Amino acid sequence: MPAHNGSGQPYINCKNVVKAYTVGDHEIVALRGIDFTMTRGEMVAIVGPSGAGKSSLLNLLGGLDTPTAGRLTVGDFNLVDLRGRLLADYRLRQVGFLWQQVGRNLLPHRSALRNVMLPMMLAGAGWGERRRRAKELLEAVGISEHAHKRPPQLSGGQQQRVAIAVALANHPHLLLADEPTGALDHQSAVQVLELIADLRERYGLTILMATHDMQLAAFADRTLTLRDGALGQDLTHSEAAAPPVLDKEGRIQLPAAVRSQLDEAARIAVEIRPEGILLRPEQADEDDTDAVLQDILPRKHTNGSRRRFFHWFARDGHPKEEARS
Ligand SMILES: Nc1ncnc2c1ncn2[C@@H]1O[C@H](COP(=O)(O)OP(=O)(O)OP(=O)(O)O)[C@@H](O)[C@H]1O
Ligand SMILES: [Mg+2]
Repeated sequence: MPAHNGSGQPYINCKNVVKAYTVGDHEIVALRGIDFTMTRGEMVAIVGPSGAGKSSLLNLLGGLDTPTAGRLTVGDFNLVDLRGRLLADYRLRQVGFLWQQVGRNLLPHRSALRNVMLPMMLAGAGWGERRRRAKELLEAVGISEHAHKRPPQLSGGQQQRVAIAVALANHPHLLLADEPTGALDHQSAVQVLELIADLRERYGLTILMATHDMQLAAFADRTLTLRDGALGQDLTHSEAAAPPVLDKEGRIQLPAAVRSQLDEAARIAVEIRPEGILLRPEQADEDDTDAVLQDILPRKHTNGSRRRFFHWFARDGHPKEEARS
């Protein structure tokens, strides 16, 4: 793994970055002084609960939004000052974006091939070059035989493969992926991540990916945790990927990255659902747990099966358990 981009500087340098949105009379601070660096060729995952600021951070790095304060550079580009044609050029050539919403990545009325050719047209490439590169990319993502199909004729996983080809069309160095597999089933998600990992090697990409799924974060070299707009632990691959342990007494040991999501909770609600077991952090003043869970889990999601909730008080060493049916 190359340590630096040849100039002795990290490829991405994010220093005390703040992002505030103004909504009416209110200011929402989405990022509260973010510091991190990435080397060229590195793959980093950002995990954090909803509203933590993951998309805000990716949008800044993609040149889709501007930091309110701080310093942010990607290669030779200073994203705080970038404006006009230079900014448009940065978005078009330096970075590729992959969104969670499959439909947001592609134009539904154009074939896969023409979707991939479009960014190259915007960048001024000739027709022959566009077609050659688009075919090469569709082959690289394993979609050659579907090149002439439109997105609605493809599965979600196939559409995300085409979207990856679109993102890479203008040879970007940086791939930003905002929960790229969030709309896919687990098997398709793993396949898409395996593909992204292959393409990273093949094209020397630097990748920053937001995800909720620690198993997918394990594809990255490092995992950063983001909570309430601030970075927490920098977890190494091995820590992030360490499997959970369940002992004979029923005690569960969670990987550090999962634990960090629950750290501030006064207690953890555990719910048995038809598709698995959900751990949900709760604050001490939440005494309407059942009502909340009733709200967020209407009966139709439980397939009518019996639901049980247990409340554990976290971190006091002697869990007080309330079982409810
Ligand atoms: N354009 C915007 N205008 C106002 N507030 C915003 C805007 N975008 C994000 N926010 C707010 O900033 C905070 C961070 O949001 P962000 O979308 O970055 O979180 P996230 O970690 O990507 O969440 P999720 O996992 O739900 O996608 C939230 O409080 C959100 O409501
Ligand atoms: Mg988001």
